[in-house]
Amino acid sequence: MADTATPLTMDTIVSLCRRRGFVFPSSEIYGGIGSTYDYGHYGVLTKNNIRSLWFRSMVQERDDVVALDSAIILNPRVWEASGHVAGFTDPLVDCKTCKLRFRADQLEHASCGKRPSKRPGDTSDCDLTEPRQFNLMFETQVGALRDASSTAYLRPETAQGIFINFKNVAQLARRKPPFGIAQVGKAFRNEITPGNFLFRQREFELMEMEFFVPPDDAEEWHRYWIDARRSWYLELGLREENLRARAHGAGELSHYSSATSDLEYQYPIGWQELEGIANRGDFDLTQHTRESGTKLEWVEQDGTRYTPHVIEPAVSIDRIMLAFLCDAYDEEVVGDRERVVLRLHPLVAPVKAAILPLIAKDEGMATRARALYEELRRYHVVEHDEGGQIGRRYRRQDEIGTPWAFTVDEQTLEDETVTVRDRDSLAQERLPIAGVRAWLDDALARDWRSPQSR
Ligand code: GAP
Repeated sequence: MADTATPLTMDTIVSLCRRRGFVFPSSEIYGGIGSTYDYGHYGVLTKNNIRSLWFRSMVQERDDVVALDSAIILNPRVWEASGHVAGFTDPLVDCKTCKLRFRADQLEHASCGKRPSKRPGDTSDCDLTEPRQFNLMFETQVGALRDASSTAYLRPETAQGIFINFKNVAQLARRKPPFGIAQVGKAFRNEITPGNFLFRQREFELMEMEFFVPPDDAEEWHRYWIDARRSWYLELGLREENLRARAHGAGELSHYSSATSDLEYQYPIGWQELEGIANRGDFDLTQHTRESGTKLEWVEQDGTRYTPHVIEPAVSIDRIMLAFLCDAYDEEVVGDRERVVLRLHPLVAPVKAAILPLIAKDEGMATRARALYEELRRYHVVEHDEGGQIGRRYRRQDEIGTPWAFTVDEQTLEDETVTVRDRDSLAQERLPIAGVRAWLDDALARDWRSPQSR
């Protein structure tokens, strides 16, 4: 297992992601574009798993949450009503000497452009401007005319698409509070302090659920969702010692929030927000009722009316993926060789199993391995790999986190059994080739705990 004296760095994760095709810097052949990444094959598979595990727990396994897919570009009045045009800002300062731009509220974490060992403002050469508010929304133009009336925004959150559909969903999905609407989709923010890989990007995939509740029940539901979301991460194998809940202080709250707790993960850059769970009160439905003239409220059968309060768990797939990768990364020496292994929960791992003929040139082995691969790939993402030494093929699968490898060898030709190798323990056992599919289904349904957990 990794030497705990050597802390994991973000660079190690960046280089693994690149080497194994999880994530590439975007527009690389043109010199890149800040804080924007493209996901390669294994990145896409991992993201798909995270999205569907989230959807399964937030929608599929519940009676009280339904799905929505709203547009990215909404009527710009939505963002005026929501407070984003006026309030979705970060305070920034410019240094007239080094020409760099910093977040005024995060100067203590930034480095001076001329003397990186110093903070901005700490040397006599630094010449910082007064803080200015900078809006994080990307503007675009809708239609052929380019004037103020055609200005629209790329959504910085998916939540507003949910609020403006409250009436449609409440009526048509025949739900009554408490009920939720879940949405997954891209969100865009013109972040001022980019960096830190997938953690802070200018476009990212947000998964949000707005849970509408009677006002008196809001605090209880807030606690419920903090616990439920924390349990979800632990069930997916995130190490408990790397996850904590932290309530926001009054000065940290967003313009819409009456209380927020973050689930924080211990990334290589320190404890940082993984997921926010906010109590948005009746802020959004009240604002949209006022600005649109459409009453977004709940009417009980006896005619009592109220504006539901909203509890909102919100997280990007990107930050989850980064947390899972950091949590799973391990290096160990096996025999006289070092291996890098991603100890991902099998349900999160991009590839569930590798099917390997021991000797690719042996026709009997090659045929059986190919047949097993073709059977399994109808149900799971699996890989068939016949190139190179078996040890090297195992290492490659370890680095992408494949939990099991089925190897077809000489004995298979005699008794129709294969070996299954476990990524974490390296234990090997034999099982009948005909039973592999059922074995894999069972293995994927089992609880899994990281061997690195304390
Ligand atoms: N609707 C509420 C909302 O958007 P937020 O705390 O600003 O709240 C929600 O964002 C989540 O989105 C965060 O907890 C984080 O997981 C993710 N997130 C925010 N900004 C991000 C960025 N620039 N890059 C990647 N993920 C980001």
